[in-house]
Formats: sequence, structure tokens, C-alpha cells
Amino acid sequence: MLNIVLFGPPGSGKGTQSEKLIEKFSLVHISTGDILRAEVAAQTELGFKAKTIMDSGILVPDEVVIGMIENKIKSNKEANGFIFDGFPRTVAQAEALDKILETYKLKVNYMVALEVPIELLIERLLGRAKVSGRADDTLEVIENRIKEYSNKTLPVANFYQNQSKFIPVDGVGEISEIFERICSVLK
Ligand code: AP5
Repeated sequence: MLNIVLFGPPGSGKGTQSEKLIEKFSLVHISTGDILRAEVAAQTELGFKAKTIMDSGILVPDEVVIGMIENKIKSNKEANGFIFDGFPRTVAQAEALDKILETYKLKVNYMVALEVPIELLIERLLGRAKVSGRADDTLEVIENRIKEYSNKTLPVANFYQNQSKFIPVDGVGEISEIFERICSVLK
């Protein structure tokens, strides 16, 4: 099995590159942002709680997302592998992921970290705002999301560095060019 954590700040291209990777390697895509947005759209109790938090650009509590991941892995035990997109976002989530995978005798193989300068992240997300309808794609909330990433999520890179699984990839350029870079490091 090939289990990849696709890592990077908001707007670094995790969702865009995940789409291409799942096609090439027949992996199951697990995006905590997509799962949470589906809960919001379905107006579930979890969705109501998550919406206020997401709309302000801060992270949803660890126990909520860890529970979601556990369910997804459990219901896809026969998969060729997983792409974790937007998860783990805290060291506590990374530790929990290792434990969950271990119960199925699985592990994360690589963390692919997309590196993009902040000005370009903001430009991309403000560009997406014109079509996405995402309440968190406003300048103020984008800035909060980037702050949350720097404070709580960046330490996750060290977690995988310590396991020798961290692979940085330049996330600037054409989408296809970045995809080629990722594929070449995965070889
Ligand atoms: P989430 O949905 O995960 O959002 P995010 O991490 O902020 O990521 P984005 O979807 O904004 O960006 P991306 O890196 O996927 O880039 P994309 O490919 O879309 O999380 C949303 C919220 O949910 C969080 O703030 C939090 O509240 C909550 N949440 C989610 N997971 C959580 C967790 N684990 N723990 C706690 N809370 C959690 O690209 C962006 C734009 O750029 C697109 O328009 C795209 O077309 C464009 N683009 C991409 N690549 C290129 C390129 N090479 N050149 C030009 N444009 C490009």
C-alpha cells in the first residue's frame, strides 16, 4: 500500500494535486476539509458546529477530525492506499494517524510537502474566491488560515522529518509540472 500525506499551507495545491495522484496510483482520497464541508452542506449537528469554526479560519478540534479519519480508513480497508489531504494538521493528529494505521498493520510512507510563498497562496485563494463560494476564501480569513498553519500545522513537518518521510516539493509552476515533480520523488 502507498500511503501519502500531502502537506502544505492553504492554497498550496493539495486538492489539485490529490486529484491527479488518486487517478495515477488508484488511491483513496481522504480530505478532512471536503468531509467537513459535506457535513456543513448536509446540515448535520457536526456541520453546524464546524461551520462557525471553519468560517473563521481556525482548526476544528482534533478529536472531531481524528474520528472522521478512523471511519474512512475502516471503511476502505481494501484500498491500494490513501492520500491524506489536509490531515494531519497538528502533531496530536499525526500521532493518532500512526496509531490508527498501526491497528491495520499500515503506515504513512511519505509526507510530500508543497512549498509555495505566502503572496502566491493569497493570490491563488483570492482567485478561487471568485468561483468557489467558500466562506473562508476572504482575505481576512485566508490570513487567519495561514497563521493557524504556521502556529499549529508546521510542526507536523518535523514529526515526519524525524521519521525520515518528509519530502519537500517546489509547489510553484504549472499544475502538470508540479505533478511531474511529485511523481518523480515518489519513484
Ligand atoms: P481545507 O479544505 O483542508 O483547506 P486548506 O488546507 O485551507 O486548503 P485549500 O483547499 O484552501 O487549498 P489546497 O492546498 O487544497 O489548494 P487547492 O488545490 O484547492 O480546510 C478548510 C478548513 O477545514 C480549515 O481551515 C479547518 O477549519 C478545517 N479543517 C480541515 N482539515 C482539518 C484538520 N485536519 N484539522 C482541523 N481542522 C481542519 O488550490 C487552491 C487554488 O489554487 C485553486 O483555485 C487551484 O485551482 C489553484 N492552483 C492550484 N495549483 C496551482 C498552480 N500550480 N498554479 C496556479 N493555480 C493553482
